[in-house]
Amino acid sequence: MDTMGNWVRTHSCGALNKEHVGQQVILMGWVLRRRDHGGVIFIDLRDRWGLTQVVFNPEVETETHAKAHQLRSEWVLAVRGTVAARPESMANPKLATGEIEVMVTDLRILNSSETPPFPLDEDTEVSDILRLQYRYLDLRRPEMAANLVMRHKAVQTIRQYLNGHGFLDIETPMLTRSTPEGARDYLVPSRVNPGKFYALPQSPQLFKQLLMVAGLDRYYQIVKCFRDEDLRADRQPEFTQIDMELSFADEEQIITITEGMIAALFQETRGIEVKPPFARITYAEAMSRFGTDRPDTRFAFELVDLTAIAAACSFQVFRAVTDGGGTVRAINAKGCATFTRKELDDLTEFAAQLGAKGLAWVKMKENGEWQSPIAKFFSDEARAKITETMAASTGDLLFFGADQPKVVFQVLSELRIELARRLGLLQKDQFNFLWVTDFPLVEYDDKEKRFQALHHPFTSPREADLDKLESDPASVLSRAYDLVLNGTEIGGGSIRNHRRDIQARVLNMLSIGEAEAGEKFGFLLRALELGAPPHGGLAFGLDRLMMLITGSDSIRSVIAFPKTQKATCPLTDAPATVGRRQLTELHLRPDWKE
Ligand code: AMO
Ligand code: AMP
Repeated sequence: MDTMGNWVRTHSCGALNKEHVGQQVILMGWVLRRRDHGGVIFIDLRDRWGLTQVVFNPEVETETHAKAHQLRSEWVLAVRGTVAARPESMANPKLATGEIEVMVTDLRILNSSETPPFPLDEDTEVSDILRLQYRYLDLRRPEMAANLVMRHKAVQTIRQYLNGHGFLDIETPMLTRSTPEGARDYLVPSRVNPGKFYALPQSPQLFKQLLMVAGLDRYYQIVKCFRDEDLRADRQPEFTQIDMELSFADEEQIITITEGMIAALFQETRGIEVKPPFARITYAEAMSRFGTDRPDTRFAFELVDLTAIAAACSFQVFRAVTDGGGTVRAINAKGCATFTRKELDDLTEFAAQLGAKGLAWVKMKENGEWQSPIAKFFSDEARAKITETMAASTGDLLFFGADQPKVVFQVLSELRIELARRLGLLQKDQFNFLWVTDFPLVEYDDKEKRFQALHHPFTSPREADLDKLESDPASVLSRAYDLVLNGTEIGGGSIRNHRRDIQARVLNMLSIGEAEAGEKFGFLLRALELGAPPHGGLAFGLDRLMMLITGSDSIRSVIAFPKTQKATCPLTDAPATVGRRQLTELHLRPDWKE
């Protein structure tokens, strides 16, 4: 093994081109692959900037050449040599350095490597666990490194934009009290305060509001948040928010500023021009047209309400649902009448998994004829009416959901996406932004038998609905807004309650009594009594944004060291057990067996 000695790297592995021909250079990096051609050894040398072909010619430097024979994948090298133009036929136009190669005169082997547990130079399927266990190898792969480079660029762009708009980057505590954002907390026991716990923040919500009370208008932070919830492709137990809050601003100002930020972000990272103002839709319209409050608008397949028609038909399944106060809705999968029986069975099974009791379908034949297991239950008139309402024509395929609204919305909204996936309509290079506004302030929780905040308890009701807070809570709309991108909620926020009396009424509506409120966030309520300005803000999920910007399928691809679906880290093996002594020190007396 050699040392770097007095060698200084002159260029990265992505830097050299025809203009450097004839120069003497020193490169350092990893062996991606080695090829021997009649005594000439070619090494693809890789670092995070790129790849350079370096050549060991047996006739030029026999000693160096002999050393090069030992080289294996992922060994770490320093080479000194001269840049040469590749013969035209050997040039690789796909590579930034594809027109040159480096004819090596000296080689220093800085480190060897065992054979990596998975190959880094090709698209082999590697298990997720193995990739996470050897994340430092996984991150050597150019596409993974590129995601982190892109994330870096995104964060710089966001900072620059917000700094330029008068925002202050202010840190808030990680060891704090539980914030009521709705998920379970990660708790940290206090050693010096026996029996007491900090909570890791689910978001800096309360602190950013306090900063507004402090007069530190226009706050932002790119900040870790922690939520102990069930994980999915777009959910991690620790994730990063672009968190912001403004004083004396209404929805319009906040939306305008953040749209500018998103536009700058897409311009700088992908060179894509997204044009504000973004489309907007109310919550009610989103639910009725798409069955979800985060609609993907890259494709149609909108839900159509057939409840009135179904209520008058003779199909017992539909009638039972409408008689029971349920809803019947359908989507028109345009041109999908070619779906096979097997595909229809698969989709029916897909719907069943989501809780559907069935998935009636109709294939549209010539002259408005129906091919369908349920055709016989409808009069000619009813069929014609449905065909017309669905704007169905020959070659279309209709799917029906009949149940309580919650089930129908869930099933048909997911079915929309599944159909789009099967039809290849989920274009990753199309970016459809959509603001969802006018959310209900609360929703009724059947299990808990009380109203819960849809966003969080600090969100302001609409002024026009203030007089309904006590009399008709379910009808009160809030001043919350979400930004949805291609069916993923990338951000959300609201105008807050800055008046103590209104905050008290909202808490009352949520059945959070004075005592409980005082105990959990009395400090915020107190601050509202001491000159809180009108304020509001929002937070974007940076990981989700980066997932969409990089075209990744999971936020794990844009996080350097993410966790598994079970919230574990295969690399460090966290979470881990700790010794009795450490627990005792923290005043914890576990009753599980060691
Ligand atoms: P909210 O709970 O909507 O709002 O969170 C804001 C955004 O954070 C992202 N996000 C997540 N990303 C990855 N993994 C998770 N587990 C996860 N949970 C949320 C989403 C989401 O839109 N304090 C409020 C914001 C405000 O009112 O200003 C809040 O946290 O993209
Ligand atoms: P059945 O009479 O139960 O055999 O159902 C006839 C057709 O209606 C089948 O295609 C079922 O998939 C469909 N179906 C049954 N229940 C529902 C429902 N709740 N919503 C939509 N379709 C249903």
